[in-house]
Parts: sequence; structure tokens; C-alpha cells
Amino acid sequence: MDKKDVKVVLVTVKEAVRSTFFRRGGRLGRAMYRVLGTSHNREMNAVFSGAAEFYRVDRSRGQRFALRRHVHMLEKGLCMRPRRETFAVDYIETTVGDLRKCMAGNELSDIELKWCFDVLSAYFDATSTSPNARIRRARDEFLGLARPEVPIQESAPYEVGTLQDVVSIKALEALAVSRTSVRSYHSKPVDRGAIDRALIVALESPSACNRVPWTMRIMDNPEDARLVAGVAMGTAGYSEQVSNVAVLVGNLGAYSNERDRHLIYIDGSLAAMSFILALQAQGVSSCCVNWPDIGTREKKMASLLGLEQHERVVMLILFGYADEQGLTPYSGKLPVDAIRTFGLPSGRA
Ligand SMILES: Cc1cc2nc3c(=O)[nH]c(=O)nc-3n(C[C@H](O)[C@H](O)[C@H](O)COP(=O)(O)O)c2cc1C
Repeated sequence: MDKKDVKVVLVTVKEAVRSTFFRRGGRLGRAMYRVLGTSHNREMNAVFSGAAEFYRVDRSRGQRFALRRHVHMLEKGLCMRPRRETFAVDYIETTVGDLRKCMAGNELSDIELKWCFDVLSAYFDATSTSPNARIRRARDEFLGLARPEVPIQESAPYEVGTLQDVVSIKALEALAVSRTSVRSYHSKPVDRGAIDRALIVALESPSACNRVPWTMRIMDNPEDARLVAGVAMGTAGYSEQVSNVAVLVGNLGAYSNERDRHLIYIDGSLAAMSFILALQAQGVSSCCVNWPDIGTREKKMASLLGLEQHERVVMLILFGYADEQGLTPYSGKLPVDAIRTFGLPSGRA
């Protein structure tokens, strides 16, 4: 037996043990899984570190993620019909306090500052007749803050209006169909302006409570890109044909509660798709690369990128100009009726 045969035997035995273990299930199986399923421990540690980070910044610095969430909640209150005279009593003081601390620490971008001020101004106008003492105290503190002069238009709630001049469904379908996972690239660099343009589209993606808990670490020189791509398991055989890589990193420090731990993956993936389509619209191909939870690779990537314990890689996105000579898998899609149902299953209403 050569080395490859030994590997096949080992993988087969491992798979047989795993499948028996899972098929038998039961209490013992579940208890053992709790002990042996160590990648869950890694996630638990990251979620814990995230909450620790969330609370750590609460006292000394402003809590930017809580501020973004609360400002978002204020906006929803302002959009409510009928609008209430008194709302957000339980978090309005914290919100203004966070804004003050974030301003003192220079932690907010102009866009965020403007948004916070416009929404809070609209909130305090809307609640001007409220007799609530907390709201009055928060208003006094807010009025004491220096309103920033930033050249950005009004950013409080606005009327939705009708959709005009949006891209046609035909154009969107053509864009979606033209995208395919490309695994072989020219080394020709992608202009940073084009990358940023795609990221700006990604930033338009929905995000739970508008927290935006992700960052993109871009490797736009082939040497770094190949090094980083090589850490992922799914690039075996083609990591040397990579020219650019974006590593999508989720920040668990955006959450105080473990119930929200999936949001880095959800928000991150929504942004990833927009990023990919915006690259595609600029003639830049891409390929998502899986980031399975494997201890040694986690360690290596954390060290390469300088990740904190509360930061987790969501996935990698290879991108660049496709090598036109390279083949790409057809990757057959499903018919729509295989993934779609309408309404509740019969008898559930
Ligand atoms: C989360 C995710 C992880 C993926 N991981 C890999 C990977 O590790 N290696 C790879 O070659 N392709 C990877 N892909 C690409 C898929 O194989 C590809 O999207 C799928 O086959 C559909 O083909 P298409 O993208 O060309 O439509 C991944 C895609 C997604 C969404």
C-alpha cells in the first residue's frame, strides 16, 4: 500500500466510526458528542470573548454596536404608525451616553455621526410632549453635545416612495446567470477603486439591527493572496492560481448575548453575495471558499491576519480576472419547485 492508499483506508475507517456514532444517537452518543465535539468549544470561546468585548468597552469607551442598534430601534419607533408620544424609555439615556463617549473617543465615521444626530434630533422632536423624566434628561444631555458639521445630507427616516430606475429583472437575471465560481485567475491586479466600489455595494446589504458585524480583509497582491488562500482546505490544487482574496471576518464583539451568535454568518453572507455580484458587474470573477472549523487552520489564519479571539472567519472569497482558457464546473442548479413551497403545510392553519 502506498501513502495514498493508507490515507483512503484511514478516511474510510474514520467515516465508518462517525456514521455509526451518529446513526445510533441516543443519550450516550449525545453526551460523548458534547465532550468530543471540540469545534463547538471553539465557537463557545469566541462567543464568550465577543460578549466580554461587548461589555469591556461599555464603561471606558462608547459601545458603538449598541449605539448603532439603538439608533436603528429609534428609527423604527419613528416610523411606527401611529407614532407614540413616549418610546425607547429603557435605552434612550444609554444611547445618548454611548454617542457622547463614542464622540469623545473619535470612534464614529462622519456617516455614522450624521445618522445618529439626525435620528436623535427627530426622536427628541417626536417626544417633545412626553412627560417622561428619562427622555427629558437624555434630551438635555443630547442638546449639550456639539453637533458635527459634516457634508452629508439628512439621514433620518424618509418616505420610501416608489421604485424608479432600479435595475431590470432581466439585467439582474443576466448578472446572476453570468456569475460562476472561477478558480483560475490572471495575475493582473484588480483596481482598488473597483474593489471599494464592490464593498460599497456590500455595505448596502441588510444587517440585523444595522450593526454591520463584519470586515473584509483584502489581499490584493498574489503573494499574500496565495498564502492566505492556501490556509483554507477548499483551495487544494489551485491555490497557486489565485490572485486576490477577501477574507470575510465576523465580529462577535457586536453582541452581548449568545442568542445572536449566528448573525455574523447571516449578515456576512448577505454582504458577500452583494460583493460578489458587484465584482461580477465590473468584470471581476470570484469563488467562495469554505472555512470549516478546524483548529490548526483557525490558529494559522488568526496569526496571519492578527485576529482577536472574538473575531471569526466566515469564508474566503477569491476574486480576479478569470483566465479565459480555464474550465469551470457547470454546477447544475435546482428547479424552483424543488426549493419553494407556498403557504403552510395542509392542516397547519
Ligand atoms: C460557503 C461556500 C463555500 C464554498 N467553498 C468552496 C471551496 O472550498 N472550494 C471551492 O472550490 N469552491 C467552493 N465553493 C463554490 C461552490 O462549489 C459553488 O458555488 C457551487 O458549486 C455552485 O457553483 P457556481 O458558484 O459556479 O454557481 C463554495 C461556495 C460557498 C457558497
